[in-house]
Amino acid sequence: MPERALARIRPAAVERNCARLRASLAGGAQLCAVVKADGYGHGAVRCARAAQTGGASWLAVATAAEAADLRRAGIDGRLLVMGALTSDELDMALGAAADVVAWSTDFVRALATHRGDRPAQVHVKLDTGMGRLGTDDPREARGVARRVAEAKRLRLAGVMTHFATADQLGDEHFPAQLERFGAFVADMRAEHVGLVAHAANSAATLREPASHFDMVRCGVAIYGLDPFQEDPALQDLEPALELESYVAAVRRFRPGQSAGYGRRWRPSEPTWVGVLPIGYGDGWRRGLTNNCDVLVGGSRRPLVGTVSMDNVTVDLGPETDVAVGDPAILIGTQEAERITAEDVAARLDTINYEITCGLTARVSREEGR
Ligand SMILES: Cc1ncc(COP(=O)(O)O)c(C=O)c1O
Repeated sequence: MPERALARIRPAAVERNCARLRASLAGGAQLCAVVKADGYGHGAVRCARAAQTGGASWLAVATAAEAADLRRAGIDGRLLVMGALTSDELDMALGAAADVVAWSTDFVRALATHRGDRPAQVHVKLDTGMGRLGTDDPREARGVARRVAEAKRLRLAGVMTHFATADQLGDEHFPAQLERFGAFVADMRAEHVGLVAHAANSAATLREPASHFDMVRCGVAIYGLDPFQEDPALQDLEPALELESYVAAVRRFRPGQSAGYGRRWRPSEPTWVGVLPIGYGDGWRRGLTNNCDVLVGGSRRPLVGTVSMDNVTVDLGPETDVAVGDPAILIGTQEAERITAEDVAARLDTINYEITCGLTARVSREEGR
């Protein structure tokens, strides 16, 4: 039975991508698999399990609720909540036995009064140039770390930073951030033992072994998406998601007829049009109107007309043997043709992350091999 909007997820690909990343790590660094935002749209729990099987010894999420969801599903092992936390969220994160991130003494004070039954594991964040969370003052970061180390119910587990431009090859900001963090790590190691220093996202992991420190935090690459927005195959990564719909109707169009809202496409010659029951309500964005291809019957077909909430239309050409019920691949391969999340992102002037994260809950997820 065809499904109107189906994301086929292959946990085995996540497992292999993790194993491939892990094998490339310098000096025995550990792999932390980032499974926030429901595993970048792939399903956090299934991807967390696959990542662990593939050799990830840590998991990371953005929010306390994401950590609690993983624990409820029975996921164990080290888990880091990377985002900012309100006091309620802090209770939830610690209740999920997750490590948390600190960069201010106020937050450390709140942490020190937590009610949990085990010491809270804390990572101090230096902002070396992302300009988001963390303190950009290494002295302040050292002070925060000292307070954590001195507090009875806290443990200083690690130090971290995050790169702003690791995906932009040749950019000078990345080496500058790396140098700042390297100096900070050296200072911190002189004062504290057993710290896990971590900085690298997927792009940094793939391009610069010196960024690996004790652990890397890879998100996009574990899903087989290219952090450099080219082709995952160039990085030996295997996409873990395919997006499929089906042809719900095949219609003959005459010149002058139009498809969809606003009449934004009208054929100049007679042609066949296939209607696929997927739209922006599923995350197939309206900006793809007259602006992407879909694979049907082993060929690329242009999406024509306006993307609606629940339907899109594709031009099947003047003669067609496409029939109602035939599968339509929006991301993935069909015979010799392939459309990647990177291709779709380029059409929308965005990044592959936003394409898979943007697939809505209405898209059913099915595990494949
Ligand atoms: C702090 C932090 N570390 C690591 C990652 C993983 O990045 P990527 O998906 O590019 O590997 C993210 C994701 O945005 C992040 O916010």
